[in-house]
Amino acid sequence: MSETTASFPVPELEARARRCADALRDADAVLLASHIDADGLTSAGVASQALSRAGIDHETRFENQLGPEEIADIAATEYDTVLFTDFGSGQLDEIVEYDFTPVVADHHQLADVDIEHHLNPLLEGVDGGSELSGAGAAYVLARALGGPENRDLAALAVVGAVGDMQTEGGELVGANTVVAKEGVEAGVLDTARGLAVYGVQTRPLPKLLAYASDVHIPGITNDRQGAVRFLAGLDIDLKQGGEWPTWAELTVEEKQTVASALIRRAIRNGVSTDDVEDLVGTTYTLTEEELGTEVRDASEFSTLLNATARYERADVGLAVCLGDRDGALAEARDLLAEHRRNLSAGVRWVEEHGVTQEEHVQWFDAGDEIRDTIVGIVAGMAMSADGVRYDKPIVALARKNETELKASARGTGRLVDDGLDLSVVMGEAARAVGGDGGGHTVAAGATIPDDAVEAFVTEVGRLVAAQLA
Ligand code: C5P
Ligand code: C5P
Ligand code: ZN
Repeated sequence: MSETTASFPVPELEARARRCADALRDADAVLLASHIDADGLTSAGVASQALSRAGIDHETRFENQLGPEEIADIAATEYDTVLFTDFGSGQLDEIVEYDFTPVVADHHQLADVDIEHHLNPLLEGVDGGSELSGAGAAYVLARALGGPENRDLAALAVVGAVGDMQTEGGELVGANTVVAKEGVEAGVLDTARGLAVYGVQTRPLPKLLAYASDVHIPGITNDRQGAVRFLAGLDIDLKQGGEWPTWAELTVEEKQTVASALIRRAIRNGVSTDDVEDLVGTTYTLTEEELGTEVRDASEFSTLLNATARYERADVGLAVCLGDRDGALAEARDLLAEHRRNLSAGVRWVEEHGVTQEEHVQWFDAGDEIRDTIVGIVAGMAMSADGVRYDKPIVALARKNETELKASARGTGRLVDDGLDLSVVMGEAARAVGGDGGGHTVAAGATIPDDAVEAFVTEVGRLVAAQLA
């Protein structure tokens, strides 16, 4: 699989983490501000627990984005020290205009301005897009604050990395693998190579296989009855008391039997070797969590968190990150059901209405039909939908408020290897029309005035063409 390019812990990153930790210890109280998505929630979960354990008073708040207004609001609070997690690095030029002491643990692209207390993998040559997430940066900080005692927080950091889609070829790479290793050593995480499909903890097998749409296996994908026939045709009797088990409930041998039969079936049906390889990956299991719950699997956990964050219920997601397995988990599950419905309705909308193909980019404007907070996730999912091309980045638009649109762009690892940097594209194209944006090479977003769609898309196309030339 992918090569590990960074040795971690990177001493320079840890030195930065120590300076950040010192600033936090010096503070009377800390305002913790974090990004409102799965990685931002887990970042806050890691940071908040580390602050509590270090006896540092703090309050947590979440923002969809860190713009001038949000920074001004934060500056207007009584806090003299503000810890930003999963954002901040790109906004330092604006942050330094205020009197409070900023401490930043982030992994997004950097602004031109730097500060004393700044922890970002990109500052030390570690790829923040694929090797360390915001929660990973928060974890490095947590270790500086509390030492090896805080290694149990690695499990949440892995959930953040998985939530930010930092897996490559189905597994974490680079610095993330060291975070995962520390979680394993601390006894809170288990990593296992095998069938990598979404829903190993909560989906009964036929549903698990039928819903796994990343690799299309004729007669199984999108075909629950077909999946049942496939499973019933195996040599082993998997049904227990009339119920299909989940993947997590299978024995090692049973998993092996199902996985190899599935792979044989895929090959027999002409699925390419590359695609078959995509069926295999690493599953990250949070071993302290109850079997069969979303929070036991990093991928399901991160989706659960997105389901709270994207619906203005970050409080629920944070409570789950902080260990509430009663009321908050139940509430998060309700939100998850709604999130699922919205995502599939969103992808269906894209399939029905199609995307507009320009020479170097493809795009759609969902208006009010898809929530601006999930349109990026839908865009990513739509990359594998019918009528959407895989060799061009996709830009998705949705209404944000009365005057502005939210834009989300998604690319592929292949395009990034060829020179695509959507963070630059979205930032520059948005600013060219009076908006702003940023993010990562493979996934970025922006806010633009609603009368600037054509100019914006044209500019995106021009910038993408220049990068891929
Ligand atoms: O702001 P943040 O870094 O937390 O968000 C990262 C976003 O990028 C996630 O929402 C994830 O869906 C997206 N992403 C993606 N494909 C990748 C990497 C990230 O869609 N390969
Ligand atoms: O919102 P979306 O999922 O499209 O965001 C993709 C990435 O772009 C995230 O990492 C997000 O933090 C970043 N982004 C940004 N500035 C914006 C919008 C999104 O940096 N205005
Ligand atoms: Zn992140």
